[in-house]
Amino acid sequence: MRKKMVAGNWKMNKTLPEAVQLTTEINQLLQKKSAHPQHITVLCPPFLYLQKVQDILTLLGNTTIKTGAQNCHQQEQGAFTGEVSAPMLQSLGVEYVIIGHSERREYFNETNAQLKEKTDAALRHHLLPIFCCGEKLAQREENCHFETVRSQIAESLFHLTPEDFSRVIIAYEPVWAIGTGKTATTEQAQEMHAFIRAQIATKYGAAVANETTILYGGSCNAANAKALFEQPDVDGGLIGGASLKAPDFAAIVNSLPQNW
Ligand code: PGA
Repeated sequence: MRKKMVAGNWKMNKTLPEAVQLTTEINQLLQKKSAHPQHITVLCPPFLYLQKVQDILTLLGNTTIKTGAQNCHQQEQGAFTGEVSAPMLQSLGVEYVIIGHSERREYFNETNAQLKEKTDAALRHHLLPIFCCGEKLAQREENCHFETVRSQIAESLFHLTPEDFSRVIIAYEPVWAIGTGKTATTEQAQEMHAFIRAQIATKYGAAVANETTILYGGSCNAANAKALFEQPDVDGGLIGGASLKAPDFAAIVNSLPQNW
């Protein structure tokens, strides 16, 4: 049975004291809940706070909330000022890494080819990639959203062995829905998630496709999460803005189906 997941992408937000407070509050709100064996909660703070967030969770005895980075460099080490590598993240005990977020593609010119290398680097160092894909508004309007997403996945992931691919989590995030308050309808989300799963099935077979966790992201919030997560191919969410408020984030985590 595939895993369900809610991951909070804090992006470039929060000072250190605010990050400490947010982690503490999220822990408080979620610790009472008995951990569902198939549900995973991940916090993706800025690199700077990863160690601190992990220390707080350990100190508070929380073993169910995991941490993830928002990016990693494709090289192992070297003269890349300002960058952070997969082995560095691995050495902190980080478990997940977001790869290819649309903001990285847009503002840092990350290409499908580069994201292929980043995915490889993450997997080499036992990090689980949360691989983002999604079309821009113009691409949807031109009716090439399926082809855009297909090529993002095929060019960055379909070189992987089935074993490596099965460690990847996919996040479908239509760019027009990110931070805009415009959520994809449940039908739009389900349609694209089913399409992504079908692509995976064609490449790796139905068993691998069935086990792949596919998250939705883009203005997912406490009010719309439940309806999105009820869709048969939507396995949770990658949450930006709403992950910065503990009650909202906890409510989204609690929107994952319990009968899974
Ligand atoms: P949003 O961001 O929830 O603020 O739309 C989602 C994301 O960028 O991962």
